[in-house]
Amino acid sequence: MNTTLAAAVLALGTAGAAVAPSAQAQDTSSAGLVDALNATFGSHAGMRASHAKGFCAVGEFQPAKGARDFADVPLFAQKSLPANVRFSIGGGNPKASDKSRSVRGLSMRVAGGGDSWDLLLISEPAFFAATPESFVSFLQARVLDPATGKPDPAKVAAHNAAHPDGTRQPALLAAHAAPSSYASTPYFSNNAFVFSGRGKKTRHARIVAEPFGAVQYLTADEEKTLPDLFLQDELARRLAADPVGFTLYAQLPAAGDALLDPSTVWQGDGKVELGRLLVKDLAPQEACNGVVYMPLALPAGIAASEDPILKARGAPYAISLSRRTKQ
Ligand code: HEM
Repeated sequence: MNTTLAAAVLALGTAGAAVAPSAQAQDTSSAGLVDALNATFGSHAGMRASHAKGFCAVGEFQPAKGARDFADVPLFAQKSLPANVRFSIGGGNPKASDKSRSVRGLSMRVAGGGDSWDLLLISEPAFFAATPESFVSFLQARVLDPATGKPDPAKVAAHNAAHPDGTRQPALLAAHAAPSSYASTPYFSNNAFVFSGRGKKTRHARIVAEPFGAVQYLTADEEKTLPDLFLQDELARRLAADPVGFTLYAQLPAAGDALLDPSTVWQGDGKVELGRLLVKDLAPQEACNGVVYMPLALPAGIAASEDPILKARGAPYAISLSRRTKQ
């Protein structure tokens, strides 16, 4: 989301007079989901339909010793796995400000022992839609009105009235400024996955990556004075001194947490350590330009849940890859 769009969306919050939801058709086919992203953010040659602005890094993933007691994932038997990482800003605007109050993304691909795992995380614990219909409607409501250069408040209010699931992530984003570093925010999978334990016992869990250091958001002063581009240099400075680390946990649901609704924040505070991601160096753009992180590329022992958003995420990523590598 760009600054203007993000500011307008935040200003709207969940308030506003509800008007009848727009009668606009919602194409929830895989191509329709990508079209909805392109319609809101524009199509930018060579760029991802979502999380367009970002850069690549490399590091390693070290599975935790006890991870296999929780989930029988052969990949976790490796001591260390090379990790290809991408940090990004949510939305399809490749020029989004690093100060914009939108989500930050952390994607990683680890491979070893004949298996691999793609993991895509964002910096808020809830997604902006519970279903593909709501995803398309959320984006349609935020297409910029050519007269004002901002989303039409009436359309956003109508979306909120019809899809309350679309109000939670904007409220979370409005509650704090943007992270002051890619290393100073936690990241969340939003979707739950099904982990197989020994003896075929399965359980749902979400993934959370907690930074080794403190969680820090921009101060009001930094929001005013920092340039729109600072996150990559900021991370490079940290990496020149030390790796940047995250501890990955499986978050367990509390009774009553919705297993299949990524737009809800889980209350469960039980967590099991899965390992540590150490980001060591930035990598050239080519290292991840032609790469697509796939939400359903899971290792043996971790399966997709029936979450309708997770299930809808397979093909759109491949479509976005094919569009951006053809342009
Ligand atoms: C139906 C729901 C969703 C759709 C249609 C969708 C679609 C997309 C698309 C098309 C891309 C660009 C892919 C590429 O060209 O490489 C993307 C990137 C991304 N998405 Fe989603 N997304 C959805 C839900 C989510 C959720 C729930 C998360 C939460 C973690 C998420 C996190 C990300 C991240 C982190 C990236 C950047 C990947 C990278 O660094 O290359 N998305 N998404």
